[in-house]
Amino acid sequence: MTLSDLTLKEYLAGQTSLVDAELDRLVPSESTPPETIHKAMRYSLFAGGKRIRPILCMEAARTVAGREVEGAVTVACPLEMIHTYSLIHDDLPALDNDDLRRGRPTSHKVFGEAMAILAGDALLTYAFEVLGRAGNARLVAELAGASGTVGGMIAGQVHDMEGEKRQPTAELLDRIHRAKTGALLRCSLRMGAIHAGATEAQLAAISEYGEHIGLAFQIVDDILDVTQTSEQLGKTAGKDAAQQKITFPAVYGLERSRIMAEEERRLAHESLASFGSSARRLRELADLIVDRES
Ligand code: IPE
Ligand code: IPE
Ligand code: MG
Ligand code: MG
Ligand code: MG
Repeated sequence: MTLSDLTLKEYLAGQTSLVDAELDRLVPSESTPPETIHKAMRYSLFAGGKRIRPILCMEAARTVAGREVEGAVTVACPLEMIHTYSLIHDDLPALDNDDLRRGRPTSHKVFGEAMAILAGDALLTYAFEVLGRAGNARLVAELAGASGTVGGMIAGQVHDMEGEKRQPTAELLDRIHRAKTGALLRCSLRMGAIHAGATEAQLAAISEYGEHIGLAFQIVDDILDVTQTSEQLGKTAGKDAAQQKITFPAVYGLERSRIMAEEERRLAHESLASFGSSARRLRELADLIVDRES
């Protein structure tokens, strides 16, 4: 049986355990001193995230190469470390002030604010140690850029925070979402493609796909915040309206937001045309991002 014979559900379960096993291998054990920081890093990392970023990274590598690419899982894990750090810090009292994440009390609720800040810092730093050891400077620059202050994740978080006091506009909304979530998702795909030795044309197509699913991902995150319960999400529902966040439902309403997510899905599929059948899983992943319920 090959990977392509699996149902999407089986494929996702397999990819998730691959990522989990590699993260477990890479991240220092809970008994490594200082124990508290490693416990805190692992508490958030192994709380059951969807692992969508590393899975996209590995799948982009496969799509470009047309086969399994050696070392792809190692290159993919730093994405999950950065993402998890961004969640720990996003939940801090100074940012979104959330109590629930991935179905568990947030890091600062369990370990205290100081340790939660350090756990985020540690995951951020460790991501680059792992990527640095994997030995490709271009990947390091890609990940740093997408996590950074010029159109990257931090830029998006800044716009998101400063937006709380501002009139929601379509322009600001687009800027927030492309940066705070879109940049890392697009980067996940680019890293996989670069690792697999993509041509410029392949990289451009993969990047375009990444842009569309990146935007779709945050549109859907905003919709779910309105339509789902905290139990379904594993994080506090209804938070965005309570904190007057600039979101797709706030600017366009739920119905138009859904139509816009659909449009991003269509464009994402279109971007993959040149890959033919080898991009089947990437098409399915775009569908999953739009159709998901948590
Ligand atoms: C949530 O990301 C935060 C956003 C960037 C919207 P995910 O929905 O990927 O969260 P996990 O990793 O599955 O917990
Ligand atoms: C967070 O966006 C994006 C990050 C960079 C962490 P949100 O604040 O909407 O994420 P959730 O809804 O808390 O997961
Ligand atoms: Mg936030
Ligand atoms: Mg939040
Ligand atoms: Mg959200």
